[in-house]
Amino acid sequence: MTTTILVANPKGGSGKTTLSTNLAGYFAGRGERVALGDMDRQQSSLTWLSMRPAELPSILGWDAREEEVPKLAHKVPWAVVDSPAGMHGKRLSEAVKLADKIVVPVQPSVFDMWATEDFIKTVLEEKAIRKHRTFLAIVGMRVDPRTRAAAMLEQFLEKFDLPVLTYLRDTQNYMNAAAEGECLFDRHSIQRTERDFEQWQPLLEWVEAVE
Ligand SMILES: Nc1ncnc2c1ncn2[C@@H]1O[C@H](COP(=O)(O)OP(=O)(O)OP(=O)(O)O)[C@@H](O)[C@H]1O
Ligand SMILES: [Mg+2]
Repeated sequence: MTTTILVANPKGGSGKTTLSTNLAGYFAGRGERVALGDMDRQQSSLTWLSMRPAELPSILGWDAREEEVPKLAHKVPWAVVDSPAGMHGKRLSEAVKLADKIVVPVQPSVFDMWATEDFIKTVLEEKAIRKHRTFLAIVGMRVDPRTRAAAMLEQFLEKFDLPVLTYLRDTQNYMNAAAEGECLFDRHSIQRTERDFEQWQPLLEWVEAVE
């Protein structure tokens, strides 16, 4: 049995690839077999994987641009699927159907919130969600809790009857790790990432929880 986690938001740059690569890296770091699927034509997740140092916990990459998203996933306990900006229609429906859990990163910007609102409404209409076969949750991305934007994001997210798992801060740690083919969880020795681990905990608990 594979638990498939889809990371999706129609807005470009909302943090899908950052969440996907870190989630996959987290499972790998725990010694679990994990596949990282990349539905995006830009293949950022797979490029990241190609840069990953061989001595780090390994992740199985698969090009999920075509319809065959689930095939490889069946052989591993965890599959994380990164998706492209603007995913909609049949492709979105198929991705939702495949997923056990969907994580939606949302940045505190009105443009992101507007784009996300319609997306969430559409996804909530999907049969898999209505039948409680697929679960949906939100992660606030690049959030500075002291800002008005953060308050607006919080207010916006209250509209939906959905778990808001955590707020991840804006930090160069993600960028610095990614540049080396690494994720936060490869960098336990770096003190700067401790706060980030804490912020990730509720997200990790949710993805690992058996529904
Ligand atoms: N919490 C964060 N703190 C700082 N930078 C971040 C954070 N999350 C994402 N970023 C940065 O924001 C940029 C966009 O993130 P990312 O590529 O993950 O988004 P995406 O949703 O995959 O974009 P696309 O829709 O183009 O695929 C990247 O440069 C990434 O490093
Ligand atoms: Mg991306």
